[in-house]
Amino acid sequence: MSDFRERYGEWALVAGASEGLGAAFAEQLAGRGMNVLLLARREELLAELAGRLTAEYGIDARWRVLDLSDPDPAARLEAACGDISPGLLVYNAALIPTGPFVEMTQDTLERIARVNVLGPLALTRALLDPMRSRGRGAVVLMSSMSGIQGWPRIAAYAATKAFNTTLGEALWYELGEEGIDVVVSCPAAVSTPAYFRNFGRRVPGMLTPETVARKTLDALGKGPRVVPGLFNRIGWQVMTRLLPRKPLIRAMGRTMKKVV
Ligand SMILES: NC(=O)c1ccc[n+]([C@@H]2O[C@H](COP(=O)([O-])OP(=O)(O)OC[C@H]3O[C@@H](n4cnc5c(N)ncnc54)[C@H](OP(=O)(O)O)[C@@H]3O)[C@@H](O)[C@H]2O)c1
Repeated sequence: MSDFRERYGEWALVAGASEGLGAAFAEQLAGRGMNVLLLARREELLAELAGRLTAEYGIDARWRVLDLSDPDPAARLEAACGDISPGLLVYNAALIPTGPFVEMTQDTLERIARVNVLGPLALTRALLDPMRSRGRGAVVLMSSMSGIQGWPRIAAYAATKAFNTTLGEALWYELGEEGIDVVVSCPAAVSTPAYFRNFGRRVPGMLTPETVARKTLDALGKGPRVVPGLFNRIGWQVMTRLLPRKPLIRAMGRTMKKVV
């Protein structure tokens, strides 16, 4: 585990680190000996987490307030990094509006695209050149099981997750040739505060943020994609190989209508 610093360098950057999975990633990385640069909007949570990680793991933890839905994320990232050159990126931030597509405003849809699509593109691209010149580095993109197929009531969000899956899989190959490990993580339900705010109930196969972060980081260097949890991997196989798409989307639509 502590070879992470050797494999990827001193600093990891977690985009969307203030709570839930992002905070769990930061803690896992600190536990693996890396310094962490934490980005999100809620400063109080970031400061509290950075203080705790420094005290518990003896690493350097810094934070910057950054809204990834603002224009020109690459320039904002450069300012946020200062003299830090991260060797590992976790792009975890996501906007997850729920409900019928027709009720989404143009502004919401554009913000989903900025945080969930342009953000991972911009931050990954911006951090690549120093990683390439060092011949080592890592990129973790957070996708979701909802990227497998059309997912009513989170239609736009799920589509952005499909984008991240495809992007991550291709980069696994392209960047792997340059010594940079890429993995895209596709969890099902994770018990984060955001999950309960959005969906309000536990479901079978639900994992903790700590488990998902650990399994995702463990998967770096092993393959393009990780689906954490055996139950969820079986679900993935059933959904992608056994069940026909049309009834599956309808069934999901009926279920989601009861929830959001
Ligand atoms: N929870 C699940 O069941 C589940 C399942 C599959 C995949 N995932 C994926 O896992 C990731 C994390 O999920 P989560 O449940 O932990 O969600 P979350 O709590 O909403 O976490 C998202 C993080 O991103 C940050 N963020 C959101 N908008 C931002 C913005 N405009 N600028 C900067 N930071 C922003 C949030 O911090 P601030 O609000 O402080 O900015 C927060 O730290 C997401 O990519 C999600 O798609 C989650």
